[in-house]
Amino acid sequence: MAEDIKNKIEGLREEIRRHDHLYYVLSSPKLTDQQYDKLYAELKKLEEANPDLITPDSPTQRVSGKPVEGFGNIRHAAAMLSIDNTYNADELRDFDGRVKKALGDAPYKYVVELKIDGLAISLRYEKGLLVQAATRGDGQTGDDVTSNARTIKAIPLSLMDAASAPEILEVRGEIYMPKKSFADLNKHRGETGEPPFANPRNAAAGSLKLLDARVTATRNLAFFAYSIGQASAPLSDSHYKTLNALKEHNLPVNGNTKQAKDIEQVIKICKNWEKKKETLGYQIDGMVVKVDGFSEQDILGTTGRAPKWCISYKFPAEQAETIVESIEVQVGKTGILTPVANLKPVKLAGTTVKRASLHNFDQIKRLDLRELDTVIIEKAGEIIPQVIEVKKKERSLFESKPVEIPTNCPSCDSPTVVTVNKRKKTGADEEIDFTTVWCSNPNCNSILKERIAYFVGRGQMDIENFGPALIDQLVDKGLVKNFADLYSLDLFKIAPLERMAAKSAENIIAALEKSKTQDLWRLITGLGILNVGGQTAEILADEFMSLENLMAASVEKLESIDQVGPIIARSIYDYFRDPENIAIIEQMRKAGVHPTPPVEKRSAVLAGKTIVVTGTLESFTRTEIQQAIKDNGGKTSSSVSKKTDMVVVGANAGSKAEKAHKLGIEIISEEEFSELIASD
Ligand code: IVH
Repeated sequence: MAEDIKNKIEGLREEIRRHDHLYYVLSSPKLTDQQYDKLYAELKKLEEANPDLITPDSPTQRVSGKPVEGFGNIRHAAAMLSIDNTYNADELRDFDGRVKKALGDAPYKYVVELKIDGLAISLRYEKGLLVQAATRGDGQTGDDVTSNARTIKAIPLSLMDAASAPEILEVRGEIYMPKKSFADLNKHRGETGEPPFANPRNAAAGSLKLLDARVTATRNLAFFAYSIGQASAPLSDSHYKTLNALKEHNLPVNGNTKQAKDIEQVIKICKNWEKKKETLGYQIDGMVVKVDGFSEQDILGTTGRAPKWCISYKFPAEQAETIVESIEVQVGKTGILTPVANLKPVKLAGTTVKRASLHNFDQIKRLDLRELDTVIIEKAGEIIPQVIEVKKKERSLFESKPVEIPTNCPSCDSPTVVTVNKRKKTGADEEIDFTTVWCSNPNCNSILKERIAYFVGRGQMDIENFGPALIDQLVDKGLVKNFADLYSLDLFKIAPLERMAAKSAENIIAALEKSKTQDLWRLITGLGILNVGGQTAEILADEFMSLENLMAASVEKLESIDQVGPIIARSIYDYFRDPENIAIIEQMRKAGVHPTPPVEKRSAVLAGKTIVVTGTLESFTRTEIQQAIKDNGGKTSSSVSKKTDMVVVGANAGSKAEKAHKLGIEIISEEEFSELIASD
């Protein structure tokens, strides 16, 4: 029995690790979030009941502990060197000239990689287990950031094939923040507190060096491995093959890594990425070119600071100079006033930029930004660039005056309320002021318009045909005073609106009608509860199954939910204690809004299984059985290998069935397959 539980736990861990790898490394998730959460919850429950079976590499052990006072130092077993830079093709050719000369007539190849714009990390695996993570520091000694690095899902806590891995293996690579996570983080910081990060690199470094690993865990950091440091045995005799070996151990290696036969091919690859770097989901600041063979690398040696077998090709920074024509203030759905810079249009990274985010008034003060200033803007992973520098010397003293915090709302002219909070700068003792400017009028039309636009938006209730022009009219004419009023709209109210064809009016009413049974999590998101985005709403919907249950939940109950912290719990609780919110929800219910609770989306009986079908089938066509496998969470493959989990055999099956038999893979008949999928 004890053995059974142990096996069950280990099986679940394997399964979760595999899905983490599929999701975070291969970017091809095979489970819905609910299916994944179910596996995780099952493992957590079993481990809680059997705490002696918890191992440090269990997926439940990524985030642990309390904030630390500071980081310890780690001396790197092998120095973490830096790379010399080049900026054009001729400098790359010069580098190649030096390599050629040092290697005499011996042939050599290059490996060309993306230069990921993050921060270097050294991960130490002993007997296949992650035991230590250190930043580069000065190259000799770095910070011990083990607890923080463990929270990054792309970093395996144990190597895939611990038995075949060298006893000691230090993996070197780059921790980075994907562009999307960076944009979300800065948006959140702009809305709620601290100053924005200037670029994804700073954001990654700031997030990794937080004293509280639980916060690091929320930052969606990612990782690519690009070399090894100390290893008790080499993985191979060349860099390229070593990267492949790291991949076999489930370490994420960038898929755009290429071998090149000579420097001209290297240059072509570099130029090509310079053009298409915007298509990537993460920021790169250049390319890294490495001599492939380890014996060639040894001959070339290092200068002490940087290896002579490696060079970077740096892209020019994505910055531009322009003029701030005006600073406009926008009102958001929470009533917070946010400044935005209207710029003299300028070309930057292939697009024309007309606006820059300023995030909040503290940011303007920090930069001392004024209208008509000449500024440097930088596109750093965000779609909207940021002002990173003000050219104060070019400022005309006659025209320029500091930006004042608005005393009235730009939309409804009500007085504003200014709150100043002291916030501890993340990971440091230094305190900073955080000023929030609010419109004091809860019925401000701009706030209402933003709320309605959010409610009907794609990530929320997903109600079609609700453009800004329609929302403007509905609010301005007083037809909609809250989102429950949307459900009192009818053709008589909508059809007379400007630019409204009869057919469109009908479509709008139909879309509203359809949304009455929209998924529960979408309605929860649409309410716009502070700190509750789509992901949290899904967790809440799964937990409570109805809006009524969620409304009745105590703070303690809310806090007990995995991934719901005290701040989120409090804002949910407070939201549902506000009489106005309760009245709106009641009004929606009366109007027939009955959201659909979550259901098991898809049977997962074949979750994560790779299945080969062979022979002639009776009750399925090939397409049908492939679809059935997919529908039940499995994957099909055309050839049998060690990675195959199951083979379905029909009549006259040949060599594939034989091979499966030899490899000891489970073989089932078509009938058994039908029973299996029906059993779930
Ligand atoms: S190799 C001795 N490969 O760039 C060579 N570095 O400017 C060790 N970086 O400190 C580094 N992508 O943090 C290498 N594909 C890549 C890289 C990469 C980003 C970073 C790394 C290094 C810095 C040097």
